[in-house]
This record gives sequence, structure tokens and C-alpha cells, in this order.
Amino acid sequence: MAKTEKAIEALLKEGRTFSPSKKFRDNAHVQDEALYRKAKRNREKLWEDFAKELDWFKKWRKVLTWKVPDAKWFTGGKLNVSYNCLDRHIETARKNKAAIIWVGEFGESITLTYWELYREVNKFANVLKNLGVKKGDRVTIYLPMIPELAIAMLACARIGAPHSIVFGGFSPDSLRDRIRDCKAKVLITSDGGYRRGKVIPLKKNADEALKKTPSIKKVVVVNRVGDKEKVRMKRGRDLWWHKLMEDTSPYCAPERMDSEDMLFILYTSGTTGKPKGIVHTTGGYMVGAYATTKLVFDLKEEDTYWCTADIGWVTGHSYIVYGPLANGATSIMYEGAPDYPDIGRFWAIVEKYAVNIFYTAPTAIRAFMKWGEEHPKKYDLSSLRLLGSVGEPINPEAWMWYHTHIGGKKCPIVDTWWQTETGSILITALPGLTKLKPGSTTIPFPGIEADVVDEAGKSVKVGAGYLVINSPWPSMLRGIYGDRRRYVDTYWSKYPGIYFTGDGAKRDKDGYIWVLGRVDDVMNVAGHRISTMEVESALVDHPAVVESAVVGKSHDLKGQAIVAFTTLKRDVKSSPKLLEELRAHVAKKIGAIARPDEIIFTADLPKTRSGKIMRRLLRNIAEGAVLGDTTTLADPSVVNQLREQHEHKEG
Ligand code: PRX
Repeated sequence: MAKTEKAIEALLKEGRTFSPSKKFRDNAHVQDEALYRKAKRNREKLWEDFAKELDWFKKWRKVLTWKVPDAKWFTGGKLNVSYNCLDRHIETARKNKAAIIWVGEFGESITLTYWELYREVNKFANVLKNLGVKKGDRVTIYLPMIPELAIAMLACARIGAPHSIVFGGFSPDSLRDRIRDCKAKVLITSDGGYRRGKVIPLKKNADEALKKTPSIKKVVVVNRVGDKEKVRMKRGRDLWWHKLMEDTSPYCAPERMDSEDMLFILYTSGTTGKPKGIVHTTGGYMVGAYATTKLVFDLKEEDTYWCTADIGWVTGHSYIVYGPLANGATSIMYEGAPDYPDIGRFWAIVEKYAVNIFYTAPTAIRAFMKWGEEHPKKYDLSSLRLLGSVGEPINPEAWMWYHTHIGGKKCPIVDTWWQTETGSILITALPGLTKLKPGSTTIPFPGIEADVVDEAGKSVKVGAGYLVINSPWPSMLRGIYGDRRRYVDTYWSKYPGIYFTGDGAKRDKDGYIWVLGRVDDVMNVAGHRISTMEVESALVDHPAVVESAVVGKSHDLKGQAIVAFTTLKRDVKSSPKLLEELRAHVAKKIGAIARPDEIIFTADLPKTRSGKIMRRLLRNIAEGAVLGDTTTLADPSVVNQLREQHEHKEG
């Protein structure tokens, strides 16, 4: 965090700003402050008016019921999310418009028009029903970025079965834990998925997980890689997607969902080893995803929009599928990596489909910077009119590079701050209006009461503190699945009645917010949230390890890198081979995203007299920074030894 703070200080002094061009502003959905004024006058009316732009089977009786920490939005309203994403468009000229343009790793593509997507979703909804899935039953989806992923989630929404999507890069153990936590009835997976030309054996991973998931009755398997991966189908349990779709009727009536019925669960890392199942409901989530997609991305009928996230994360849920489709947009879905088959891939896609709006993460931008501007230069990027950033603080150099070399100095950049828990974007510029400052996420979306407060909860007008949200918003989480206590403790206990985000932030004299990063034991590695405890548990699971303390360290490309201070059993000798084995062990236990960048073997870990590991100290050692006060340490010599080892390693 120290590095980020320094960078922000420098920026604040410099005071560079960027305003939208007249052309952009004159055509934007939001051109003046009216929405902010409306929100100030009557926040509920603002959200109600957004809700009116969607289709409801029955109108709500009450916009908001708020009894800390439980919000109910649009009480009594009935709607269906898949109806809002599909049915209402097929009655219009959008019927044959591309809903999803899918681009495969090998460059092949499939376009699904609204009508085609509607048919596929209806059919698969019937498949799920035929497999015995009923309203309220949970369905886990473990798929690569293929069209079936979007189809499956919309089909779940159609029949009212909450989906729990597990990122395809997660390990069998991670998948197993997520299935067990929500007791899913059906698992949807594929034989495999492609990653940089290699096959990821998803079905094999699933088989491993399924050994300990008694709740799963049926497994639907998509054929993606064919002969490249042999799969074993368990009779009576495992069924091929394409076979099930063959003779299924093409219409399935959308379930009338209550506004507060659960739409999905999405697991995210918290401060303990166990991931949290974040619960989102139907009406409020749909309103939040719809309104922010429309206004933050200034989405127009003729736009081609591309969010590069994976649907396994919340960004993909809200801004590849639900938000864009509710708006009737054309959304690109890309299967592969930015550097496969070559590092021009993203720009080739922008050129080929004349992408207008492009939304990606700072990690990717920093990688493009490293690869050099000569790559995007080879492509025609003139169709772009708006850029977005999400997932972690964007450093000003990366912002400027993005603005210059991708946006051709003409595209506003919306740096959007939000979380799995918030469901949709909460702090962001509105591109036709807001003056941008590189590195700042700017100001709260209309209707969002974000604040920066000190330890005591007092608002910090100018300066650093904790980022909190003072009042409820429609797409906020409704709980942690099956863990009421953790929900209350994590979000509503530090400041009663106020949502605690877990982020630190600074507010400048213009009221702009600069997110500093997590203030809890959660790391943000390449835009992915990983808990230090999860990695520690994976390490101590290895027979050679006694104890481990994991911290995040600033990293030029990934934002943060994972550093694990590790104590080995007395009779085990450290070696480069063991180090690699431990890194691989973590990747196997959690997934490749959690593989430690560095492991530092140490005879002991620095602890306070009461036995708590001193993480701040370890973070400082990892950063190579000067040590703070060590007088509360039980054995201060441990620190010096650790620091020496680390310096030796760096050297
Ligand atoms: O620390 C913040 C960071 O990502 C966290 C949320 O992670 P997750 O739930 O995985 O959702 C990521 C995508 C919405 C936040 O607590 N974060 C997200 N967006 C930004 C950000 N940090 C700085 N600037 C952002 N724009």
C-alpha cells in the first residue's frame, strides 16, 4: 500500500485532468448533473425510475424496506431476469440483432442473435427442469468461456434456480467446497477448456470434486474439446449437453420470481480460509446491473461492447451477461487469453468487430504496456469511443498509456470501483460529464452514498480512511449463503448500520475518491481476490510445512504478488525442489491464481508476545521497506534474520 500511497500523493500534486470532448458529451446519456440532483432529492425515486425501464409481471408495492442489515427492494414486485434479457427484445427490431458474439481461442466465432439465444436458453431451461431442477434448487456451473456458460446461467434464471458459477481455473478442492457449501443439485461442466492452446481437464477436475459432493444428482457435460480429452461418463449421473438438447421443447415459461428471490450465489475470498457465498436477489440486482451498464458505459443501440472478464467472476456476471443483455446490447465474449496465439489478439478482435466500448483490468493494461505500443498500433482501433477499468487501482502510467495508445487520446476512461458484494458499479465517472483524474475512481454513482471515514467512523472530508457506504442500494448483497453471523460481522459490525467495504481510500479536495487497496487480509493479485488464510491453509496442508504466513507485496504487473513465509518441519531440509513443490501444491489445492510468487523459508515467524503473527512486519520485509516498531516482538532476532534472507534472495 505504501507504494500506491506515494503514487497518489504525486498525482494529487500534479493535478492532471481530462474532460470529455464536446462530441462525446453532446451524444451521451448523461450530460448534466440532473441525475445527481434527483438522487439527492429522492434516492428511492431515482432507483424506482430505473426499475420502470425494465419489464415486471407485477409492480412493486414498496421501493425499499431497510432494517439494518437487511434491505428489501421493490417489495411485492414480480419479474424474471431472463425475460428482461431476452423475451422483451425478441418482440422488437432487436430480434435478429447479435446478443453475444463469441470468439474462440482459435479465432473461430459464433454469433447468437437475441432470437437464437432465446431459443437455446428456453431449451436448456427445459433440460434442467427435466433433470428435476426446481425453483430454489442450486446449480453449480464450472465451465470455460463458451456460449453454453451464458446459456446455462440465463436458463437457471429462467426457472428460478440460483446458479453458483465457479471459475474454470479453480481446483477440484475449491470446486468441491463451493458445491458442498450451497448443496447444489446439478453440476454443469465440460470435457475440457482451452487455455493458450492447452486443454484444461475440467471434467476430470469435476470427477475429483464429485467424490465428496453427495448433493449432486446429475452432471451435464458440454463437449468443447472432443477427442483432445478423454472423459469418463458415470452412468445415470453424467449426461452430454448436446444429447439433452436434441429433443427438448423450445419454449419454457419464465418463472414469476419475487423481487427478493435469490438469483445467484458467487463465492469470493474473505479473511478466513473459507470463501463466502455472496447472495444476490432478482429485482434489485437487475436494476443495478441494467442502470449502471447503460449510464456508465453510455451504451447505445448501435454499440458493440466488450468486457474482457471471465464470467466466473462478478464482472462477467454483471457486465458480460446480465447488464448488457438487459440493455439489448451486443456483447462480445472471448474464450482465451490476451496473449494467445499472439499479443495482438485483443486488438485484432477490436478491429474485426469494430468494438466501441472496451472494459478490462489494470493488470492486462500493464501487460500490454510491457509488450509495447507497437502491437496495438498494427490494428485499427478507431471504432473505440469509451474505455473502462476494473478490479484494482489503476496506476497513472497505465491510465495514460491506455488513454494514449488504446483510446487514441479521444476516449474517456471510466475507472469503476465495486465488489462481488455490491453487485454493480458504485463509484465511477459518468463519461459524458465527469472530469477524469488518472488513478482516481472519481465519484459515487447517483444514489450511492459512499464515504471515507476514520477509525471512529467520522467522515474524513479530505484525507485517508476506510471506504464505506452509508445507505442501501438495490444490487447490494443480501447475505452470505448459510452464514448470517459472518454477514453481520464482516460488513455491518465495524460501523453499525453502515456497509464496510474492506478497502482503504483517500478523498481529495474535489471529493474524488482514490482507492488504496484492501485493509484486511485479502490480497488483490492480478485483479483476483485471494485470502492470505486460504494460501496459508494450502501450505500447511503439505506434510513438510509447520507454519506459514502469507502477505501481498507490490508487483509491477499483477498489482500484488503472493509472498509466503514458511517454517518447515525440523527434519525437512529446504531446497529449490521443495520450493517448487510447495508452489505447485498451492496451485493444486486452490488454483493457479493462488500460486505463491515467492516462498521464504524461515526457522521462525515474528510473533507478538500474545502469539499473533506480525503481518505488517512481514509485509514490510517483503516490500524491502524499513521496519517499523519491533519492540512488541517475542524474539526480534527472527526479523533481522528474515530480512537478511530476503535481501539475499532479491540480490
Ligand atoms: O479492493 C477493491 C478492488 O477489488 C475488490 C473487489 O474484488 P471483487 O469482489 O473480486 O470484484 C472485482 C470486480 C468488481 C475491491 O474491494 N477494486 C475493484 N475495483 C477497483 C478496485 N480497486 C481500485 N479501483 C477499482 N476500480
